[in-house]
Amino acid sequence: EDGPVRFTPVAGRIGAVAAGVRLDGDLADDVVALIWDAVLRHKVLFFRGQHHLDAAGQVRFARRLGEPMAAHPVLPPLDGHEHVLDLDGARGGRADEWHTDVTFIERPPKAAVLRAVEVPPHGGDTVWANTAAAYEGLPAELREIADRLWAVHSNRYDYVRVNAAGAVPRRPPSATAAFETEHPVVRVHPETGKRAILLGGFARSVVGLSDRADARALIRLFQEHVTRLENTVRWRWAPGDVAIWDNRATQHRTVRDFGDRPRRLHRVLIAGDAPVSVDG
Ligand code: SIN
Repeated sequence: EDGPVRFTPVAGRIGAVAAGVRLDGDLADDVVALIWDAVLRHKVLFFRGQHHLDAAGQVRFARRLGEPMAAHPVLPPLDGHEHVLDLDGARGGRADEWHTDVTFIERPPKAAVLRAVEVPPHGGDTVWANTAAAYEGLPAELREIADRLWAVHSNRYDYVRVNAAGAVPRRPPSATAAFETEHPVVRVHPETGKRAILLGGFARSVVGLSDRADARALIRLFQEHVTRLENTVRWRWAPGDVAIWDNRATQHRTVRDFGDRPRRLHRVLIAGDAPVSVDG
């Protein structure tokens, strides 16, 4: 029923491997529509062997899914490619905590296209979690609490981690580069209508809870549901692999177990909307 493209689930609640497609800026509209429909259903798709793609080709393909964003609000892009972030393992550990990409801005990206350029012989996997399944798995009493909450997301922590890893961004963070925004803890997906938990590593506090310990405990409670192994899928990268995920229904993190072995991935983010709460 999927035509030339086949999607095979790799875990019970999230993730599918796509076969029979060469990702390209010139893909037929119906193939792009199949891919997007599968992104919404499976939350993250994996494509193997896309060795023909370079950074420019990755952006051309990403453009078929929406509007590519600047590579990052604070970090510099890959030289010559304003939409591509060079995730270089040697430059520090900014992705090894569970997070949804760039939630500290008003309109976080709706999706991401991540391409493995160089990967260690072992280690350096990425793990994704299905935040809609996590919401559905909450007891009704906790869903009701989550529905009413808003959280403050900030990239302040991002700087601390980057700097602690000895990886000072080429353009150092300044006062104007600090972002902070409030999002509902439960967002209603603009395409599927499903509710999902919106927290992750950039969620710093809970609106209305002045006691930081209370806020941390509450965030941890929901995060533990998100990251239950049943809600996750883990991907062992090979060069040429591409992952596409729905950034409105997932969190992810790098597994930092590759020491100083080289690991480079290129990421393109697709512009998204301001998250909408259950109250609209
Ligand atoms: C990311 O956090 O967007 C990249 C994940 C990774 O490099 O494993």
